Amino acid sequence: MSGFHAVVLAAGQGTRMKSALPKVLHPLAGLPLVSHVMRAAFQAGASECSLVVGPESEGQFAAVLENPALPAKLFVQSERLGTAHAVLAARNAFTESNPAIVLYGDTPLITSARIEQVLRALNSGADVVVLGFVTETPAGYGRLVTGNGSELLAIREEKDATDEERLITLCNSGIMAFRAGLLPSLLDGIGNENKAGEYYLTDAVAIARERHLSVAYEIADEDEVRGVNNRAQLSEAEGVIQTRLRKNAMDGGATLLAPGAVTLCHDTVIGQDVLIEPNVFFGPGVTIENGVTIKGFCHIEGAHIEEGAVVGPFARLRPNTRIGAGARVGNFVEIKEATLGAEVKVNHLTYIGDAEVGVNANIGAGTITCNYDGFRKHRIEIGADAFVGSNSSLVAPVRVGEGAYIGSGSVITKDVPPGALAVSRSPQTNHDQWAARQKARMSGARNTAKPAESAAKPGKDDPS
Ligand code: UD1
Ligand code: MG
Repeated sequence: MSGFHAVVLAAGQGTRMKSALPKVLHPLAGLPLVSHVMRAAFQAGASECSLVVGPESEGQFAAVLENPALPAKLFVQSERLGTAHAVLAARNAFTESNPAIVLYGDTPLITSARIEQVLRALNSGADVVVLGFVTETPAGYGRLVTGNGSELLAIREEKDATDEERLITLCNSGIMAFRAGLLPSLLDGIGNENKAGEYYLTDAVAIARERHLSVAYEIADEDEVRGVNNRAQLSEAEGVIQTRLRKNAMDGGATLLAPGAVTLCHDTVIGQDVLIEPNVFFGPGVTIENGVTIKGFCHIEGAHIEEGAVVGPFARLRPNTRIGAGARVGNFVEIKEATLGAEVKVNHLTYIGDAEVGVNANIGAGTITCNYDGFRKHRIEIGADAFVGSNSSLVAPVRVGEGAYIGSGSVITKDVPPGALAVSRSPQTNHDQWAARQKARMSGARNTAKPAESAAKPGKDDPS
């Protein structure tokens, strides 16, 4: 399909969200609402994207604009005078050569397939295409007033509709497409003589008809064009996005034992024959290769997990973690900024941070890397086949050589040569018969005062 100019409207204040963050910047599956819309537009073939925002929130869109996959130009609508006025704010980006499609930043469930459907209607000769939907609860929406067949006569905003028009259940989703070069002249014709005193983009339909242009409509599922105006709707939209992401993962060959209990991120990459148990959360930047098992109750972000590794239950992988093929990361293990080689085992109660762990190393229960001296972070290297005994602290910067052993309970502050045994704990001393001597020493010294409660309720065998 040829390119088009996507104009995404996001100047609304979103007061019902009760938030310091503009509504369209709230995340769904880790990606702002507006970025979902932009992504659908680019997937459908948009060649450029203009984002129209309000003056009070301009600075907060920096992160959205920095996303290299979704390049957009920002335009500020200085006063909120209606949807047509908002589109005009982006007039410097209008092109003669491409169609324009207006999308709403707070309608994040729109799919690229639906945008392509609208484009096809343009390509088959319509000058203006409106995306409509049928709903049992049309209140608040603009109604599509239709003629014969798929002819669209006008869009009537609720405030301006007659009682009869209000019975119409075919509504305007807000998404409208315009043949190349048509938008400026239609916008010029739009006034604000209506109950709201706003410049309605929807008036473009009646104006186009006056000019004998062809105006068509397409139909979308109501679910796809649902807007987000408050936190409850945000959570509903999250549910829809999660369902889509889980289905994609399962279609790609992953088993989700309880899909509803797995939270995915918009960019989670999951291979084939991956098993994900319930109660697993994925933050941004996770890639899981084939044959990996993620056991229950894991929290994973910014991690790459190689083929056949087993993670969890109750593991936390933080950003910049790489787990090697066949490695094991067990319960109550936290890993951050670390690379584990293939077949490494870190099975219990451990923190590994800012570290490089060589292949086949074994990290005992309760091992802690101590990387932070209060000012800077230092790195730790653990060589291949090394064996770190349980309850050891490795104080960075430090290197444990290949195949070296660390005795349990050691605090390692100096490099350990390859193949060496390092033990830093104090030697054990045994005192024979100490217990009996102690009892003899202490007999008679026992505190005989009874706690008040047991004195009040003597037991069956109590001689008192
Ligand atoms: C609009 C449509 C209505 C449609 C409904 C679907 C118009 C006149 N009406 O009504 O037919 O059924 O959406 O949800 O277009 N915006 C700006 N600047 C403005 C005004 C709005 O950027 O000055 C943006 C908003 O941020 C939002 C979108 O445009 O993303 C729609 O605005 P909104 O006020 O929600 O329009 P509705 O009254 O819901
Ligand atoms: Mg609205």
